Amino acid sequence: MINLGVIGCGQWGPNHIRNFTNLANCRVLACADLNDKRLKSMKVLFRTIHPTKDYLEIIRHPKIDAVVVATPSSTHYRIVKECLTAGKDVLCEKPLCLKKSEAKELIDLAGSLKKILMVGHVFLFNAGIRKLNELIRSGECGRIYYLHAKRTNLGPFRTDVNAVWDLASHDISICNYLLNAMPVDVSARGGKYLQAGIEDVAFVCLKYPMGILANIHVSWLDPKKVRQLTVVGDKQMIHWDDLDNVGPIKCYDRKVEPHYYYETFGEFYLLAKEGNITIPKLNLHEPLKAQAVHFLECVQSRKEPTSDGKTGLDVIRVIDAIQKSLAHEGTPVPIK
Ligand SMILES: NC(=O)c1ccc[n+]([C@@H]2O[C@H](COP(=O)([O-])OP(=O)(O)OC[C@H]3O[C@@H](n4cnc5c(N)ncnc54)[C@H](O)[C@@H]3O)[C@@H](O)[C@H]2O)c1
Repeated sequence: MINLGVIGCGQWGPNHIRNFTNLANCRVLACADLNDKRLKSMKVLFRTIHPTKDYLEIIRHPKIDAVVVATPSSTHYRIVKECLTAGKDVLCEKPLCLKKSEAKELIDLAGSLKKILMVGHVFLFNAGIRKLNELIRSGECGRIYYLHAKRTNLGPFRTDVNAVWDLASHDISICNYLLNAMPVDVSARGGKYLQAGIEDVAFVCLKYPMGILANIHVSWLDPKKVRQLTVVGDKQMIHWDDLDNVGPIKCYDRKVEPHYYYETFGEFYLLAKEGNITIPKLNLHEPLKAQAVHFLECVQSRKEPTSDGKTGLDVIRVIDAIQKSLAHEGTPVPIK
């Protein structure tokens, strides 16, 4: 039995508490939040939980083995560092923190103390993204030309980070995972329409090795909730729509082939080929539950998580370059 504490019970924290509470090999002993109302509602929802305003109570609790950090992103570095130092394994919500140097420090700290450090890049546990990865690995797409991702909604608006940190962190983790690579450089433009100094909209273009482009559009200022990704390859084109419960993955047997003609040797024109659209059957599950199960497995077996500190650092490296490009009106910035 693994004893857990959850720090941060805002919009997202309760989803962690619910998932971990429903797993047989774990107990959520305590939760912390600065807000009394949030703590009261946690006590109503989860009767056996001990609510506290002071997260240090969780960190110092001798029976708590592992901590989930679901506070605002700007607080992650400090809280995760305190948790690790106190000897707890940690599952931290994305992004791990807001600086590359801080992420490196947390990775080193977890390594030296032999503690598990996992980052909640939850889409790496999404059945549709897993299937997409499987299809890419098995060569179904052929050579990948480009990816196009869209993640929009009207709100929720954050005040500590922009829409890139909040939303594109998901798409960057997905693109890195699917392409099994890091981008070489990035060019990004953004709009600060609602809050001074905070981009609520961004158009990000990542250049990966082999000329693969990944375009990411994120927005808190859009009429429609969209979570989609299209992968265009030379054999197939695959579309993922996370909000399509019937078939989130659709494989389009569509491609373009050069059609040669020989009246004048070497001439050709491009021929669009249309084929079937197939919808692979997926075993759909709540990604956050799969992530929770994986975290507990790692705590129990001491294995490195799929979404480890390095995965979190890689996303931060990309966002760091995006921030610089945003500040320079889209100038390409290499990823360091
Ligand atoms: N993986 C996902 O899909 C996903 C979805 C939503 C949010 N998130 C991440 O989860 C984190 C929280 O997001 P949210 O939407 O719940 O934010 P939120 O603002 O709704 O909730 C954060 C909560 O943390 C509490 N808090 C702040 N400082 C604290 C402290 N020192 N001690 C205890 N509690 C403290 C606040 O009172 C608040 O209730 C963010 O990092 C966000 O990026 C991830």
